[in-house]
Amino acid sequence: DTKTPSLHGAYAGIFNIGAAVSTRTIRREGGFIAAHYNSLTAENQMKFEEIHPEENRYDFAAADEIAEFAEKHGMALRGHTLVWHNQTPDWVFEEKDGSPASREKVLERLRDHAGTVMGRYKGRISAWDVVNEAIEDKSGAYLRETKWLETVGEDYLEQAFRIAHEIDPSAQLFYNDYNETDPAKRDKIHRLVRSLLDAGTPVHGIGMQGHWNLYGPPIEEIREAIELYASLGVRLHITELDISAFRFDDRRTDLLAPTNEMEELLTRRYEEIFRLFREYRSAIDSVTFWGAADSGTWLDGFPVRGRLNWPLPFDRELKPKPAFWSILDQA
Ligand code: XIL
Repeated sequence: DTKTPSLHGAYAGIFNIGAAVSTRTIRREGGFIAAHYNSLTAENQMKFEEIHPEENRYDFAAADEIAEFAEKHGMALRGHTLVWHNQTPDWVFEEKDGSPASREKVLERLRDHAGTVMGRYKGRISAWDVVNEAIEDKSGAYLRETKWLETVGEDYLEQAFRIAHEIDPSAQLFYNDYNETDPAKRDKIHRLVRSLLDAGTPVHGIGMQGHWNLYGPPIEEIREAIELYASLGVRLHITELDISAFRFDDRRTDLLAPTNEMEELLTRRYEEIFRLFREYRSAIDSVTFWGAADSGTWLDGFPVRGRLNWPLPFDRELKPKPAFWSILDQA
């Protein structure tokens, strides 16, 4: 649609507007994606299990296709992700006989992995989510119990950032997490990044995933999180924004389309959220949606199988929704 203004065009000079994509979406909707977004994240294609499924096998075909698309259209590219408890193959943490690998072995594998993947996209990927989701959600506990923690020990984050910085000293290195505005988790993320900084660890930013919904978190809670993270002096990226139609514990499956009331709520929600982001433009460099349009949302079927969702500013036909116009209005 040539009459629709460009989303990234409207936000030029404010912050980048990004989308998570796959080879499928860039092939099918490439023109639309390039029109509205000037930053891309590979939704899955740079994750450990996809790009490095076996110890001696890397598969770069899909990641390369996304990187070339970004380059061709002059878009920024975010690297997602090096160290995570999900979508990481078991072999990373095991000896050939299945027994746990030593700390040195796992760190050596991380050096090989990061060196090969970051090295390949050096100069093309400006920001990396070096560590993803390392903080425990449950109150009380601090670090999530993962195989990285188990095999390497508590300094695995520091190690990961040091390794990444050595490989690409000009890349901006991010700690990325969800439920990032929840006061208890927020304070743990703050403590983690502050202790990394205090130890002289090269961490340059915090990624706020932004998997929110129509009913929460409250805008003031989002503001407090932005304030607290920005007070560390690091850059902020909103890395995976979407506004689910359902609270996380809502298991309804009967809705085939959003009601008018839900559509209106989505519009108001995006309006207040982008007004807030705009206010903090001096700290926020990039806002990425987790999907380019409702046709490609990961929330279809997650966390409730068979259920649809409508969390993005473009519908399943790639048409701008009222939420699109409310976002545009805040630029
Ligand atoms: C999701 C993808 O969107 C899905 O396609 C995949 O099946 C699972 O992972 N937090 C993250 C992202 O950091 O990598 C996740 O992406 C969504 C939650």
